[in-house]
Amino acid sequence: MPAFPSPLSESAIVARLRAAGCVFAEDEARLLLAEARTPAGLADMVDRRVAGQPLEHVLGWAEFCGLRMAVDPGVFVPRRRTEFLVRQAAALARQAAALARQAAAPAGPADPADPADPADPAGRAGPGGQAPGRARLVVVDLCCGSGAAGAALAAILGQVELHAVDIDRAAVRCARRNVAAAGGQVYEGDLCAPLPATLRGRVDILIANAPYVPTEEVGMLPPEARLHEPRVALDGGADGLDILRRVTAAAPTWLAPGGHLLFETSERQAPRAVAAVTRSGLIPHVASSGQLNATVVAGTRPAAAGGPGG
Ligand SMILES: C[S@@+](CC[C@H](N)C(=O)[O-])C[C@H]1O[C@@H](n2cnc3c(N)ncnc32)[C@H](O)[C@@H]1O
Repeated sequence: MPAFPSPLSESAIVARLRAAGCVFAEDEARLLLAEARTPAGLADMVDRRVAGQPLEHVLGWAEFCGLRMAVDPGVFVPRRRTEFLVRQAAALARQAAALARQAAAPAGPADPADPADPADPAGRAGPGGQAPGRARLVVVDLCCGSGAAGAALAAILGQVELHAVDIDRAAVRCARRNVAAAGGQVYEGDLCAPLPATLRGRVDILIANAPYVPTEEVGMLPPEARLHEPRVALDGGADGLDILRRVTAAAPTWLAPGGHLLFETSERQAPRAVAAVTRSGLIPHVASSGQLNATVVAGTRPAAAGGPGG
């Protein structure tokens, strides 16, 4: 329901959205009516949507992992499929917390009342995503865009030390709003370059939903992406893996022993991504979700490795 008497009826908005090709016109109309604060604001939102702006840019937010994330115009809209990356990262983080807990505690059965238990029905890593006597898990979100992935991961894990990076100023501004709830830091710059040096060898989970569309295929993306998301958010170079190869090469320097790198690719790119992970000295693993049409490549820094390499 709008917060004011609307001169535009819901059915008139639905008709305009449908004529513009919006498949979920009824749902979108309801969202626009709920979001608008004034009649002029509503008219403007409907016009922008009809002109082809992504709904999330018009609303100013996207739903991601059940949370409302701010998304400014010109910033990559977080995709449903990236929720798989977040879930995979959460599972590995819980595993890392459980292993650290085991290492810290004398052998014995798992405590069912322990909120840090991986069998915890709430699925949380435990207070602070940590094991007793261990600092909070350190999470880095490279190529963070709106910051949705890192912020959602922090929300799932409980308290973590969250750092996020993007090269695009508009993304950094937007991400600062989304990671604020987790007390996270957002840096502007190229991949790991702006990260504090104190994080070297300390990162438990490094996620990167970097651009991975091959240059030649950017022109085939739907107009909402091609026209309203920045090229730097989409174009991954000739085979789509340029940025991810750089992320993979840098990861061993930043990961803690036993720490995990996770990134999204296409199914077709996964074998080359796995080869890059292996070359960097990490132990590769691929997971996919048919439901979300998502492929995630992970690389684990061997726990017994010496000092950070790469
Ligand atoms: C596909 S978008 C993903 C954004 C976000 N991770 C998400 O899932 O919603 C890729 C992001 O990577 C950023 N990016 C591209 N090249 C970068 C680089 N060299 N260093 C840091 N960020 C970069 C873009 O600005 C964009 O925000």
